[in-house]
Parts: sequence; C-alpha cells; structure tokens
Amino acid sequence: MGASRVFQLFQVAPHNTKRDAWLVINGRVLDVTRFLEDHPGGSEVLMESVGKDATAGFDAVGHSKAAAEIMAKYQVGVLQGFEDKHSALDAKEKSEGKVYEMTGRVIKEAPGRKRLWLIDLFVPSAVAVLAFWYRCSGSLAEV
Ligand code: HEM
Repeated sequence: MGASRVFQLFQVAPHNTKRDAWLVINGRVLDVTRFLEDHPGGSEVLMESVGKDATAGFDAVGHSKAAAEIMAKYQVGVLQGFEDKHSALDAKEKSEGKVYEMTGRVIKEAPGRKRLWLIDLFVPSAVAVLAFWYRCSGSLAEV
C-alpha cells in the first residue's frame, strides 16, 4: 500500500482537490479521493481538510474504531517526524489514550474448594446410607 512512504506537509498540500484529495490524520498520510463520497459525515467536511493535517477535526468528531479501520485502507504514507510507525488503527487507539499493555487475571481455585467437593460427595452418601440403615432397621423391627 506504500504506507511506509514518508511525506512532508508541503508535499501533501497540493493534493487538495476533489479528484486528488489527501489529508493527514495522526501522522498518517491518507489519499481519501475515493472516500469523499462515501464519508458518512459528507464530502464537504473532508474537502475543508484536504491538503492539511486534519487530526484535530478528526478527533473532535470522536470517530469510532470502525472509522479508524476504514482510514487504514487509504493510507499512502506517514508524515515525516511522526514517531509512531504502526497502522492507522494503532494511531486512533493511541489518540484515544488506550494503553498497550497485556492485562490478565488469574482465577485461582478458591481455598477450601477441594474440601467443598468432598462435602458434596460425602453428604449425599451419608444420607443414602442413613436411609438404607433406617429401612433395614425398620424391616428388622417387623421381624
Ligand atoms: C479517512 C478519514 C476519515 C474516515 C475514515 C472517516 C470516517 C467516518 C465515519 C465511519 C463516520 C461515521 C461515524 C463514526 O463511525 O465515527 C464519520 C462521521 C463524521 N466524520 Fe469522518 N472520517 C474521516 C475523516 C474526517 C475528517 C478529517 C473530518 C473533519 C475534519 C470528519 C468529520 C466527520 C463528521 C462531522 C462526521 C459526522 C458525525 C455525526 O454525524 O455525528 N471526518 N466519519
């Protein structure tokens, strides 16, 4: 996709027409020419940002994660000096302040779980033995 090409803002600036529309979001250089008519927010709002860094406008709308995924499709490069070389999706998540950390929780067996299991087995067995014993003693008494 040529997404690793490095541009400076002055190289993006001439791509500011409906037939050749580029903009920058979070350090991603995007060719949105084919997206103009599909943009849910309308082509006009995009046209106001073409040839420029549109990060502030993009973030101000609070675009969804789906928007960031769509955005990745139109990336043609990165802006020089932009430190992050990951995908547009990462950029979106970073801009939302999401932290890249593995989190996990170990669910340990509750203490005494084994003992409970023994009780689960013992109580019905004891009831069964008692019932059996009661029946037997009853029938013995009859004899
Ligand atoms: C390639 C870049 C962009 C993509 C892929 C994109 C995608 C989207 C999508 C999918 C929506 C629907 C709502 C959502 O899912 O967030 C949306 C809405 C909108 N977008 Fe964008 N957008 C882009 C750039 C921009 C820019 C640069 C601006 C303004 C500077 C902008 C302004 C808006 C507005 C005003 C709405 C309508 C919000 C509403 O009706 O609540 N978008 N965009």
